[in-house]
Amino acid sequence: MALIVLESASASPGVTATAVGLAVTWPRPVLLLDADPTGGSAIHAGYLRGMVPPADSLLDLALANRHGHLVEAISETSSPIEGTQVSLISGIRSHAQAPTLTGLWNPLAAALKSLERTGQDVIVDAGRLGLVGSAEPLMYAADLCLLTTRSDLVSLSGARSWAATLRDGFERTGGLSSLGVLMVGEGDPYSAREVRKVLQLPVTASLAWDPDAAAVFAKGAKAPKKFDSSPLVRSLRAAQTAITATVTANRADLTLQPVGSSR
Ligand SMILES: Nc1ncnc2c1ncn2[C@@H]1O[C@H](COP(=O)(O)OP(=O)(O)OP(=O)(O)O)[C@@H](O)[C@H]1O
Ligand SMILES: [Mg+2]
Repeated sequence: MALIVLESASASPGVTATAVGLAVTWPRPVLLLDADPTGGSAIHAGYLRGMVPPADSLLDLALANRHGHLVEAISETSSPIEGTQVSLISGIRSHAQAPTLTGLWNPLAAALKSLERTGQDVIVDAGRLGLVGSAEPLMYAADLCLLTTRSDLVSLSGARSWAATLRDGFERTGGLSSLGVLMVGEGDPYSAREVRKVLQLPVTASLAWDPDAAAVFAKGAKAPKKFDSSPLVRSLRAAQTAITATVTANRADLTLQPVGSSR
C-alpha cells in the first residue's frame, strides 16, 4: 500500500479532479479519501453528480477512533464507486465539522499504513493548505505528498511560500524525498524545469491541460469522444507510473539506510 496525498496552496488548481482521475484509472483497487477541510462533499456533488448521498465516513471514523476500532471502521465506512476499483471515504459536509477531525489524522495515518498487507493504495484529496482541521499529519506520513499547482505566475506565486513551509517540515522529519509537485497544465506558460526552480521541489508528474476530460472527474460531465485516450487520461497514466516509481525508489532507499538512522 502507498499513501499518496494531494493538496494545493491556492487557486483551485485541480486537486479533486486529479485525485478522482488518478483513483478511477488506478490499475489496482484503491481507497479514495476526501479529506478536504472545506467540506461540501465535492466528489459526491461532482464526479458522482449528486446521485449518491454522501455518507458521514470521516465523522464515523473519528467516532471509531475514540472507541479504539479505527482500523476495522475503514472498510466499514468506505463505499465502492460503481464501475471502478475505487472505495470512497466521504468527506465532511461542512467546514464547521472540520475541527472534529483534528485528532483523527495521526491515528488515521497509522491505521492506513497498517493496511499495507491488503495491497490497497490510498489517494487523499487534502484540499487547500492552512485551513482548520487540515490533514497535515496525513501529508507528513505519506509515501508521497504532492503539492498540486498550475504553471502560471499567480498559481506559482501562491504555491511558493507553501513549498518552502512543506520543504522545511519534510526536511525536519527526514522525508524530503516524499515531497513533490504535481503540475496541472505544463507549459502554460512555465515548464516543469522552471517550476522546479521556483518551488525548489521536484516535479513528480505533469498533467495535460484538458478541460473537457477534466470536467468528467470534477463535475461528472459526459465523457468526451475518445476519453480513454484523451490527453488528460494519458497523462494520468504517465503520472501513475511516475508516482509508483518514486514511491518504490523511496522505499528502496529506506531499506538501504543504516540501522539507527532516522527518516
Ligand atoms: N487537467 C486539467 N485540465 C483542465 N482543467 C482542469 C484540469 N484539472 C482540473 N481542471 C478544472 O479546474 C477546475 C477546478 O478543479 P477542482 O475542483 O478539481 O480543483 P480543486 O483544486 O479541487 O479546487 P478546490 O480548492 O476548490 O477544492 C474544474 O473546473 C476542473 O474541471
Ligand atoms: Mg477540491
